[in-house]
Amino acid sequence: MLKPGSAARIAAIGLIGLATMAAAPVAERPSATLAAATPPMGWNPYNVFDLDYGEEEVMAQADLLVKLGLADLGYRYVNVDDGWWLRRDRGTIEVRTNIYPSARRPDGSTSMRPFVDRLHAMGLKAGIYTDIGLNSCSQRWRPNTPNLPEGTVAQREIGTYGHHAADAALLFATWGFDFIKVDACGVADYGPDVEAVRRGRFRAFPPLIVRERPAMSDAGELARQYADFAAAVRRAAPGRQPLISICAWGQADINDWGLRYGQMSRTSFDIDATWKTMLFNFDSAASRALFAGPNRWNDPDMLEVGNGEFDHDHLVAARAHMSLWAILAAPLILGNDLRRLTPGIRDIIANRTVIAINQDPAGNQGVVIARDGDGEVVAKALATPGHKAVALINRGRKPLDLSVALADIGLSPDAPVTVRDAWDGHVVRPADGRIGVALAPQETALLLVEGRSLEPGVSTPADLPARFEVADEGYKAPDRTPARQWVLAQIGFRPYGEPLMLDGRHDHAGLGVAAGSRIRIHLDGRYSRMTLDPRTLGSRSGRFTIRGDGKVLAQGTASATSQPLSLNVSKLHEVELVAPPAAGDTVAFAWHALRLRR
Ligand code: GLA
Repeated sequence: MLKPGSAARIAAIGLIGLATMAAAPVAERPSATLAAATPPMGWNPYNVFDLDYGEEEVMAQADLLVKLGLADLGYRYVNVDDGWWLRRDRGTIEVRTNIYPSARRPDGSTSMRPFVDRLHAMGLKAGIYTDIGLNSCSQRWRPNTPNLPEGTVAQREIGTYGHHAADAALLFATWGFDFIKVDACGVADYGPDVEAVRRGRFRAFPPLIVRERPAMSDAGELARQYADFAAAVRRAAPGRQPLISICAWGQADINDWGLRYGQMSRTSFDIDATWKTMLFNFDSAASRALFAGPNRWNDPDMLEVGNGEFDHDHLVAARAHMSLWAILAAPLILGNDLRRLTPGIRDIIANRTVIAINQDPAGNQGVVIARDGDGEVVAKALATPGHKAVALINRGRKPLDLSVALADIGLSPDAPVTVRDAWDGHVVRPADGRIGVALAPQETALLLVEGRSLEPGVSTPADLPARFEVADEGYKAPDRTPARQWVLAQIGFRPYGEPLMLDGRHDHAGLGVAAGSRIRIHLDGRYSRMTLDPRTLGSRSGRFTIRGDGKVLAQGTASATSQPLSLNVSKLHEVELVAPPAAGDTVAFAWHALRLRR
């Protein structure tokens, strides 16, 4: 358990240099053929420029990515956001050539090919932006912003709705883009009652997303649109794998299925350069470790490192922000103006050890181990067994002493262990089986811990979350607000976020799930035995089924009392844990104490 102790005031950490610690991990799963085997890295203009930028600014940033060595560290995607389009004419999108002059062609048509070619010639990748509806976010929310589409109502419909095949062919086959962010205001914010729609400025689009009302949203149709767009992109780019970044902000339950159609999917509304929204967006992804893995990354939004409350005057907070995105295995898309980069901010975005934690080939998202007041601990299992990255987080504005037991992050307190700070390499010495740090306000300690597994040869879910997939199996989502986040399945916590307790102790090896969920675990024939203890959380009982490669391995009625199971899983490719929907309500279920033995 996490132990917030007496607050001790410590000096803020001084300027840091590039860490020199070696990135050790050995690849656990060969995944080089995936479009996004590790979290995508790059740069996007929106956080710093909104729509007020063009080709010149983008190219200046691209040059700096190369010159400063950031591209070599992995920041390769240079992504255009909203605002690149002038209009859609006779079905085809025209580029706004006053800000993208290289797109102007002698015959009067426009093409982003020269822009893409220049980025490719620099060794970079090129990203573009669309909306899954008819219109974009800026058109609806920022009518006075520069560079909005122009023309008639129909010409200003620059979103991809109804144009998937043609747009995908233009953007990926003709122009050669590598990445697309697919926003969703077009299917959320243009209902018939919206004033600009009533005034005839835009065509009405009956919303598929009703913000913060999943039960009123049309998740089925939204999924069909994203699936169809993804298929069109695949067809337009045979032999290539352009990356699709879904931007539906966690609405309409997209967190439960979005990663099927995109390699990354936003889990919350827009970040801004404040500590509060940074934490909010972190939380929206942090509870979803079971959903993420290679080629499917939770996206808490682009980085604000270098901006506002994370600028050069706030290096402790900036390091915390970067540490949190690293431990989440979140995409690292820079959102600052590299022309104004200070050495302090450069050292944060360019720290090799921190980037290696984010890019670790096992692709495990960090798992929340404990939360108590302003203190939080997250641990990310790295590819080398017994190696973990651990973040001890002070979310608050007062100093905080924080510690975590080695056993709670799955490491033996009796075996030798080394603990080093990922930012500057300094050694932290565990005491009494715990790792403890004194944290300044808003400070996160990001540590690399090398020890021995608690039980050699045995893995718990937190050791391999990337091997898990979660699916809805008939659960009816309650209407919920972000203030009361609810997650279909998570490690060590119940669906509404309370710690999962077993016999009076926090069960870090258990899964708290909703009845009506299905958990698939990819074993790939590597394990011999699975032990677990299915129980309902509450007084009602519930039926469960466990399948191995499609055949029933165990079935029964679980209640609140213990029912330990030990199952032979040798040679099995996958097992599925099914908690069928409970009649009429939302019985919560626990797959307690889940262990996989080699
Ligand atoms: C939405 C997205 C942002 C950005 C803007 C552009 O708000 O969530 O990331 O793309 O649109 O208008």
